Amino acid sequence: MGKIKKKVALIFGITGQDGSYLADLLLKKNYIIHGVRRRSSSANTQRIDHLFDYINFSKKNFFLYYGDISDGTSTLNIINKVKPDEIYNLAAQSHVRVSFDIPEYTADITALGTLRILEAIRILNLKKVKFYQASSSEMFGLVKNKKSLNEKIPFHPRSIYGISKVFAYHTAVHYREAYGIFACNGILFNHESPRRGPTFVTKKIVQGLVRIKKGLQKKITLGNLYAVRDWGHAKDYANSMWKILQYKKADDWVIATNKEQTVKQFVEMVSKKLNMKLKWKGKGLNEKAIDINTGKVVVDLDEEYLRPSEVEFLRGDFSKAKKKLKWIPNISTQELIDEMIKFEMKKK
Ligand code: NAP
Ligand code: GDD
Repeated sequence: MGKIKKKVALIFGITGQDGSYLADLLLKKNYIIHGVRRRSSSANTQRIDHLFDYINFSKKNFFLYYGDISDGTSTLNIINKVKPDEIYNLAAQSHVRVSFDIPEYTADITALGTLRILEAIRILNLKKVKFYQASSSEMFGLVKNKKSLNEKIPFHPRSIYGISKVFAYHTAVHYREAYGIFACNGILFNHESPRRGPTFVTKKIVQGLVRIKKGLQKKITLGNLYAVRDWGHAKDYANSMWKILQYKKADDWVIATNKEQTVKQFVEMVSKKLNMKLKWKGKGLNEKAIDINTGKVVVDLDEEYLRPSEVEFLRGDFSKAKKKLKWIPNISTQELIDEMIKFEMKKK
């Protein structure tokens, strides 16, 4: 009997939150993993440093390359060298608020970066490769009816980030239809974890309130408290990415929990777990939360954190993924918060 050939995955964005969970998962599934990292002046591999305990260098199951999806030639060269079975494009300028400050850069990476990868697959004539595009619920944008959003709802993006993701989404669909490439979109709703970047709202809230509890920080300053999000756990969502590429045909999938919370409710869930009793007072930008035990303001607002246009409501209907991929979210929002708090509590 011949040896079973190990699958080879190439991950763009391996140093990010999702890339690190996907690498954990694929290593457990016995894949050979190739990841693309950006050159940076300070370390950007913290989220994958733990992997070095699992990597078996003698079996050559993990490789990192310097690259950048703004650079079409090196992107093509890496794909040509690796000749992967599966490509996951998780690389992006992924911060919505920041996309208002650097729109042109965001479009270059988040939109055109995807095109560069798909063009490389087409030019190299890699007929068998499967491609995953990290699409986003941010594409839905301005939602008319506050109902759960599925794959059939039209997009109305509210930021250059969202617009870039719509471009990337349609580019993946186009390469599937025009060239027969197995290109899929995972339309993922917000997902968080202890590895979430510090300027996304859940991490900012958990990290901030834990630091206040430890006496290391006085308050956190937020923007829109009333935006509604559907928050899942990145570990569950990494599993959906893999399942999407194992399905018999290339398709587009909503991945969500179908549960909703406002930012304010998220603050309350975190503070409750930390035994901080909050009292809210004031309206609009003057709204504040006071810690009843200390009488001090622990949450206030600043317009710096508001967006010129906001996505007010996101809740996803993942019934297609549940039915066909047998995917469901396993980790509840409360469990997610507990894990994030535990992680921050351990920090010095
Ligand atoms: P993240 O933590 O910000 O990670 C983004 C990754 O992309 C990082 O590895 C980053 O490298 C890399 N990257 C950025 N610019 C690049 C470039 N020019 N060339 C190559 N790599 C580049 O984001 P995430 O939360 O893991 O999200 C993963 C993907 O899913 C992103 O495309 C995001 O837009 C999308 N998405 C996320 C969510 C969510 O809620 N998390 C929901 C829907 C869709 P550095 O580490 O060097 O910065
Ligand atoms: N970041 C941030 N910081 N957001 C705040 C703050 C704050 O101080 N205060 C309130 N918010 C509100 C934002 O206005 C938004 O409505 C909500 O909290 C969530 O903001 P983020 O955590 O920054 O996430 P996002 O929803 O804008 O974008 C994330 O999810 C998308 C999927 O819907 C990112 O991960 C995107 O990459 C992803 O595509």
